[in-house]
Amino acid sequence: TPSEFIRNFCIIAHIDHGKSTLADRMLGITGIVANRDMRAQYLDRMDIERERGITIKSQAVRMPWSDDAGQSYALNMIDTPGHVDFSYEVSRSLAACEGAILLVDAAQGIEAQTLANLYLAMENDLTIIPVLNKIDLPAADPDKYALELANLIGGKPEDVLRVSGKTGMGVEELLDRVIRDIPAPVGNVDAAPRAMIFDSVYDAYRGVVTYVRMVDGTLKPRERLQMMSTGTTHDLLEIGVSSPEPVPSKGLSVGEVGYLITGVKDVRLSKVGDTITHAQKPATEALPGYTDPKPMVFSGLYPIDGSDYPILREALDKLKLSDAALNYEPETSVALGFGFRCGFLGLLHLEIITERLEREFGLDLIATAPSVIYEVTTEDKKVVTVTNPSEFPTGKINSVSEPMVRVAILAPKDYVGTIMELCQSRRGSLLGMDYLGEDRVELRYNMPLAEIVFDFFDHLKSRTQGYASLDYEPSGEQEADLVKVDILLQGEAVDAFSAIVHRDNAYAYGVLMTERLSKLIPRQQFEVPIQAAIGARIIARESIRAIRKDVLAKCYGGDISRKRKLLEKQKEGKKRMKMVGRVEVPQEAFIAALSGE
Ligand code: GTP
Repeated sequence: TPSEFIRNFCIIAHIDHGKSTLADRMLGITGIVANRDMRAQYLDRMDIERERGITIKSQAVRMPWSDDAGQSYALNMIDTPGHVDFSYEVSRSLAACEGAILLVDAAQGIEAQTLANLYLAMENDLTIIPVLNKIDLPAADPDKYALELANLIGGKPEDVLRVSGKTGMGVEELLDRVIRDIPAPVGNVDAAPRAMIFDSVYDAYRGVVTYVRMVDGTLKPRERLQMMSTGTTHDLLEIGVSSPEPVPSKGLSVGEVGYLITGVKDVRLSKVGDTITHAQKPATEALPGYTDPKPMVFSGLYPIDGSDYPILREALDKLKLSDAALNYEPETSVALGFGFRCGFLGLLHLEIITERLEREFGLDLIATAPSVIYEVTTEDKKVVTVTNPSEFPTGKINSVSEPMVRVAILAPKDYVGTIMELCQSRRGSLLGMDYLGEDRVELRYNMPLAEIVFDFFDHLKSRTQGYASLDYEPSGEQEADLVKVDILLQGEAVDAFSAIVHRDNAYAYGVLMTERLSKLIPRQQFEVPIQAAIGARIIARESIRAIRKDVLAKCYGGDISRKRKLLEKQKEGKKRMKMVGRVEVPQEAFIAALSGE
C-alpha cells in the first residue's frame, strides 16, 4: 500500500474504559474477523490478560476501510496496555503511530491514566481524536464529559465523538475520522530500509515474532537483515501483516506496520527500540530508540519445595524469552533456601510473573516482601546499591536515598480529605491540586515509591469506594532516614524478614513481625526469644515458652506399631522444618509471616 493510503493509530485509555472492546468491534466492522470467530478480546491473547481483563503486550493489526469516495485505506491499529506498570509499552507503541484515539468512559470521565497517556501522545506529536465510549450505559453523561475532554485538549465539545464499543454505535464514523484526521506516514521509499522494532514476542512454534514499523525503504523476504545496535545479521524468513492472523506478504514499505520472523529464539536478539536495516547496504543512522524499561520493584522468589529449584530456573529463562523487562539472579536465603532475586516493573508485573510461574510451570512459590532500589552511602563514602535488605551495609551509614515518584490521583472532591490523610501517612508531599470540572479533583504528590508498592492502591480504592484512580512516574531519588530492621530468633537474624523502613515506622514493623512469629512458630524444648533490632539495638521482643514435646505421650499401652508410626511421622515432619540456629521453624510459618496471613 502506498503510504498516502495508510493510517497508523493507537487507542489510549484508562484501564477498563473499553479499549479492547472497541478494538474488537473495529475488527468486526472492518470484516477481518468474522462474527462467528469473534471471541471476547481477540487481541488479548495471554490467558492471564483475558482473565484479568487487562492488556499487557501490545499487538498490531491491519484493517481495510474505505472513505466516502470509495478509496480504500489500510488502517494499522496498535493496541496498548493501560496499566501504569506497562507505560513503557505505551510509549513505544505511540512512536509507531501518527495518531491516537483518546478513549474516555462516558460514565466516568477523565481518569489518571487518561492524562498520563494523553501527555505521552502529545510528546510524540500525535494527532488526537477525542472519543467518549460506553454511551449505551444509562449512567453515561456524554454532554458533561465532552466538555471536560474539550477543555483538556482544546477544541469544541461537538467534535468529541460518541461511541459504544459494545453495541457498535458510532464506530463507523470513528473509522472515517481516523482516515480524515490522522496524517499519512511520511518516509523515503528509495532510501536504505529502516524499520523500528516496537514489539518482540516469543512464540513457541515460530520463535521470536518481531513487530515493526517501516520508516524508510522496503524489506523483502530472504533478504539479509542487520540489527543496527549490535551489528548482528539475520535472514528474513517471513514478513507480513497481522490481519489479525499473520498473512505473509512480498514485503513491507514506507509507513507500513507488520511482523517479521528471522528464526531467533530470544527476544533480546530482536530488541524493542532497535532499528533493522539491510546487511549489504545498511542505513547510516539508527532511528531514535527507547530507553530500556528499568526494574523498580524487587522480590525474592523461592520454590516451597527446594527440589523445584531447577524447574524455577528453567521457567524464568523461558519467561525472559518473551519479557525483556524481567530480571533475575540466583539468591540464597538461610530461611528459604535457594531462589532468585527478581526485578519487576511494578507490583502488577510481579503478580503476573508469579502467577504465570505457578500456573504454567506448576510451581509453588513464596515471594519475599517487595523492595525498591536504595542507594546507601557508608561513612567511608562508598555507595552501595541495595535491592535486598540483606545487602544493607553494616556499620556506620552516612545517608540512604530512595526512589521517588510523582503520583497523580483523580477522585471526586468529597474524597480529598481522606486521600490527603492517606498520602501524608505514606510520607507524601503535596505538589498541587486542580479541579477538572466541578466535582473532580486531581491531586499531585511526590512520594517514596516504597510507600506505594505495597498496598497503597488497595487503601486508596477502599477509602474512596473505588472512585479514585492513580498514576505515577519516577521522579528521581531523595534522601530519607531509613533503617534496616532485623528479626532475630534466639539471637540469629532471619534474612527473609529483614526490611528497610523509615525510622518512624521501624518500631511498628518490629512489633508486627515479632507478634506474628510468636503465634506461628511452635513451642520448642527451650524458650525462644523473638526480637526486632536496628543494628545492635533491640526495639521489640516476644518469646515462645518452652515445651517438652513427647509424641509418645498419647500412646498408652504397648501398641508398638502405632508408636513406630508416630515416630515416622515426626521424622517426616522434621524434613519440612528449617533450622534457624537451634530453632526448628516450619516452612509454613515463614510463608504465613511473609504473606501476612
Ligand atoms: P484494559 O485492556 O485492561 O486497558 O481494559 P480495556 O480498556 O480494554 O477495557 P475492556 O474493553 O476490557 O472493557 C472494560 C469493561 O467495560 C468490560 O466489562 C466491557 O464489557 C465493558 N465495556 C466496554 N465497552 C463498553 C460499551 O461500549 N458499553 C458498555 N456498556 N460496556 C462496555
